[in-house]
Amino acid sequence: MRLSGKTAIVTGAARGIGQAIAVAFVNEGAQVVICDRDEAAAVAAAKEIGPSAIAVAGDISSDEDVEKVVSSALESFGKIDILVNNAGIGATTLFLESSREEFERVVRINLTGTFLMSQAVARKMAAKKSGKIINIASLSGQKGGVGRSAYGASKAGVELLNKVMAVELADYGINVNAIAPGPILTEVSKTMHTLETRDAYHRLVPQRRYGEPSEIADAAVFLASDEARYITGHTLNVDGGFLAAGLLFPFDPKTATKIGDEK
Ligand SMILES: NC(=O)c1ccc[n+]([C@@H]2O[C@H](COP(=O)([O-])OP(=O)(O)OC[C@H]3O[C@@H](n4cnc5c(N)ncnc54)[C@H](O)[C@@H]3O)[C@@H](O)[C@H]2O)c1
Repeated sequence: MRLSGKTAIVTGAARGIGQAIAVAFVNEGAQVVICDRDEAAAVAAAKEIGPSAIAVAGDISSDEDVEKVVSSALESFGKIDILVNNAGIGATTLFLESSREEFERVVRINLTGTFLMSQAVARKMAAKKSGKIINIASLSGQKGGVGRSAYGASKAGVELLNKVMAVELADYGINVNAIAPGPILTEVSKTMHTLETRDAYHRLVPQRRYGEPSEIADAAVFLASDEARYITGHTLNVDGGFLAAGLLFPFDPKTATKIGDEK
C-alpha cells in the first residue's frame, strides 16, 4: 500500500496505459480521478475499478475542461497528491506529407494539454507544498522514427517541459518525472502497428517483445511513491532496452561474414 491515503488524477485513463496506471494506484491504496475525453469509457473504467475511482469527462487541451477536472477532483477528494499526464494521441505521417492541421492537433493535445493540466494542478500542489507529477513521454521523442515528426516533436517537448517544471517546482515540494515507454501492447499499437512495425520491434528491442501496460504502471507507482522522493526531472525509459541498443544491434560478430569471405 505505497499510495495509501493519496489522491491522483490520471488523464486518458479510460483505457490502455492510463487505465493500467489507475488500477495500479488503487491497488496501492490511492483514490483516482479517471479523466478522459471519452465519457462513456471513463465511466465504465471507473465502475470496473470500484468506489475508489470516479470518472470526469474532459479534453486536456481545453482550458474549461482542465478547470472542471481539477475542481471535480478537489470536490470529491479534497486534495490532489499525484497527477499523471498520460492522455495523448499518435500520428504516423511522412514529414513531406504532413499537414499543419495534424501537426498542431498532435502538439495541442500531447504537449499543450500536458502544460495546461500540469499548471492547473501544480498551483494547487504548490499551496500545500507537496505533489508528484508524472508525464508519459515516448521513445519516439528520443529517436527520429519515420512518420513521427508531429508525435516525436510533441513528446520531446514533454521531456523538456518535464525538466523545467522539475527545476521550478522543486521549491514547492513537487517532484516531476517522466516515463518514456517503448512499444506497449494497447488497442492503439494493436491496430496502428503494421506487421512490418511489429517485426522491426521484435528485432530491435533487446528484450524482443512489446511491453505490457502494467509494466508502465509499475514504474508510475514507484515514481508516485515516497521511495522516489529524491528523484526529480528524470525520464525513466521503460522500453526493454530499446534506447540503450547500439548501432550494431542485432549483430553477432562470431557468425558475421568478413570482407573477402562473401559468397
Ligand atoms: N502504446 C504505446 O506503444 C505507447 C508508446 C509510447 C508512449 N505511449 C504514450 O502513452 C500514452 C497512452 O497511450 P495508449 O497506448 O494507452 O493510448 P490509448 O489511445 O489506448 O489511450 C489514450 C486515452 O487517452 C484519451 N485521450 C486522447 N486524447 C485526449 C484528450 N485530449 N483529453 C483527454 N483524454 C484524451 C483517449 O480517449 C484514450 O482513452 C499516450 O500519451 C501515448 O503517446 C504509448
